[in-house]
Amino acid sequence: MATEQQTQDTNAADAASAGNTETLTVTDNRTGKTYELPIEDGTVKGMDLRQIKVSEDDFGLMSYDPAFTNTASCRSSVTYIDGEAGILEHRGYSIEQLCERSTFLEVAYLLIFGELPTGPQLDRWTFDITHHTYVHEDLKQFFEGFRYDAHPMGMLLAGVGALSTFYPDAKQIDDPEERYMSAVRLIAKVPTLAAFSYRHNMGFPYAYPDNDLNFSENFLSMMFKKTEAKHVPKAALSRALDVLFILHADHEQNCSTNAVRGVGSSDVDPYSAVAAGVAALYGPLHGGANEAVLKMLRRIESPDNIPAFLERVKERGEKLMGFGHRVYKNYDPRARIIQQHMDEVFEATEYNPLVEIARELEKRALDDDYFTSRKLYPNVDFYSGIIYEAMEIPANMFTVIFAIPRTAGWVAQWMEMHEDPATKIARPRQIYTGARERDYVAIDDRDGPEKIVGPPARRPKRPRRGA
Ligand code: CMC
Repeated sequence: MATEQQTQDTNAADAASAGNTETLTVTDNRTGKTYELPIEDGTVKGMDLRQIKVSEDDFGLMSYDPAFTNTASCRSSVTYIDGEAGILEHRGYSIEQLCERSTFLEVAYLLIFGELPTGPQLDRWTFDITHHTYVHEDLKQFFEGFRYDAHPMGMLLAGVGALSTFYPDAKQIDDPEERYMSAVRLIAKVPTLAAFSYRHNMGFPYAYPDNDLNFSENFLSMMFKKTEAKHVPKAALSRALDVLFILHADHEQNCSTNAVRGVGSSDVDPYSAVAAGVAALYGPLHGGANEAVLKMLRRIESPDNIPAFLERVKERGEKLMGFGHRVYKNYDPRARIIQQHMDEVFEATEYNPLVEIARELEKRALDDDYFTSRKLYPNVDFYSGIIYEAMEIPANMFTVIFAIPRTAGWVAQWMEMHEDPATKIARPRQIYTGARERDYVAIDDRDGPEKIVGPPARRPKRPRRGA
């Protein structure tokens, strides 16, 4: 009679001789058993490992991948990236063509519904977004409760979460109408909350949306309108901002999108799920690099100081911010597109002398084997901060502005997740490293170090306005 081992070996050999090469044959050296795992789309299923056991009561083998660096968490048809070739496509359309020929609202439609809209579809979509830009006056009151110097990203995070309380019907996530309304409301209202957070910071009265303007113009108007009856921003600025919005609309399973999918998988309403995305984007490793680029360029101060700065980077004294990417191992296509729009922005604004330093820094780094051998090229953040600064947008608003277009990507990925029959609540496993089965010890019998764990000594308080 054949042993289990022999049967499995025969199965693996049969599969190979039958031409079924889309499998992975693994031998567990603990038991000597061989298993054949199907390969689908260049992946093996994590759950297929669970059959690999040392005994009947063994839990089974798991994979360990703390930052999901080699784990596909979903199937998605929204965004395609080839990091080696420097390719970015949304629903199959190249980012270059979309930036040249499309608008942000059209790209948002494409991301969410999978196809470019027809004329009537785009008209309806634009009408719906334009007519949902107002936020409830109570939300304005809510913003009044923040300190005068509250970080605008913290305000946006709270504001998006608060939206869920204004639209309780959004909890009906299986209702396509409700899902559509949530998509529209999120894309329409995030710019309003973003601009309100800036004006609260500046101590300016809130400027309401203007339905005569397009999406990008309206945002700039809500930011910068003062006493004039109507604020129509310069066309070069609103077009450049629209391109920046397209460039930031989606980037497949990045940290914040993963957060939206993870939180959304609990079937919570989309406002709460998107608030999780805003929170993830708030982190300096995700949304904050362009601000760091500006600080770096200011410290370099003059093109003459670039060689010494690059030497410090090579000695690992600091990082060349705006260079390198986890996925792109070639020129980030988004950085190339931004560069094409810099001149038109500077023609419409005051020239930003930091651009000279940035261009020279890029040239020298790309001539240097240290950077090219590590495949370090400019990423989207290398030039975007310089453009925002030229538009007079303060650095603490850069991440907030990133959140405006990324809302479309978050919504598209959230919708896709809910339409995927494979979706389950996200719940990873762990490798437990702690103690087990300890007996409770009464407080008087406990041994421990003298040191008492507590908060550090109090720092001096920040002054309060008017105090
Ligand atoms: N400056 C100098 N050296 C660098 C840099 C940099 N910016 N980035 C990577 N390296 C070096 C790194 O020291 C390592 O060298 P070695 O092999 O000799 O140890 C090598 O390049 C590989 O780096 P890594 O840390 O394995 O790369 P990663 O994929 O883990 O990190 C990154 C990617 C984006 C975190 C990193 O490149 C970085 O910190 N860049 C600066 C911050 C930045 O610009 N972030 C914005 C990313 S784009 C925004 C977005 O798409 O959301």
